[in-house]
Amino acid sequence: MSIHVGCIMDGNGRWAERRGEPRTAGHTEGEENLARLVRVAVKRDIGWLTVFGFSTENWVRPRSEVRHIVGLHKKLFGRVAELNELNVRVQWIGRPFDSKSARTPALVQRAIRKAIADTRRNTGMLLTVAFDYGAKAELVDAVNHLRAEGRSITPDHISESLYLPELPPVDVLVRTSGEGRLSNFLLWQSTGSPVYFTDKTWPEFDEAELDAALALVPAHGTAPTR
Ligand code: FPP
Repeated sequence: MSIHVGCIMDGNGRWAERRGEPRTAGHTEGEENLARLVRVAVKRDIGWLTVFGFSTENWVRPRSEVRHIVGLHKKLFGRVAELNELNVRVQWIGRPFDSKSARTPALVQRAIRKAIADTRRNTGMLLTVAFDYGAKAELVDAVNHLRAEGRSITPDHISESLYLPELPPVDVLVRTSGEGRLSNFLLWQSTGSPVYFTDKTWPEFDEAELDAALALVPAHGTAPTR
């Protein structure tokens, strides 16, 4: 099934606070749940799963929380054996490591490079993790790239100049934890996509939730075509 699902994984902190645990415990569970969801997505034969791991805006969070989330990305990109067993290929989207504004730490860069290399032969789902990603930065970079090459600014040229031009349009975007915002995630790629807003927090986002989101995809569920 050639469906592209995008996820804004919100509510880890609230999940933990409700249980009287530190916010970092919520992020840890969020990473575990992402690993569970990858399995479910593969079972549903989804083609592309793109998740918002860390945004260009998230760097203002307390240092200890940022450090914890960075460590979880290292853990996620280290799940190569699991991803290979599932035939999942990994990709990353974010501010290019060599750009002036980029902030991806070297240890995450290494984990990303290794995960991409070690899963490159897989032919199943493409899991793209957004780290140090913001849609505004992506669009500004695309326009600057076109200007530097003396090319005209057209929708097709912008699409070709995005960080990962091979990513297809998003078929359904998920936002958890009762927030009704898109928060600078894949704005160009999801201009026409339905959005599944749920009150469930990210650690609670399960198979039934994914199915409810998929039901919004035209020709998959009962939603009218665009
Ligand atoms: C939102 O929860 C989540 C994040 C800011 C990003 C971190 C995401 C994860 C750790 C889950 C997936 C893991 C990886 C490694 C990709 P929040 O802190 O904004 O929750 P709150 O709104 O309840 O405070």
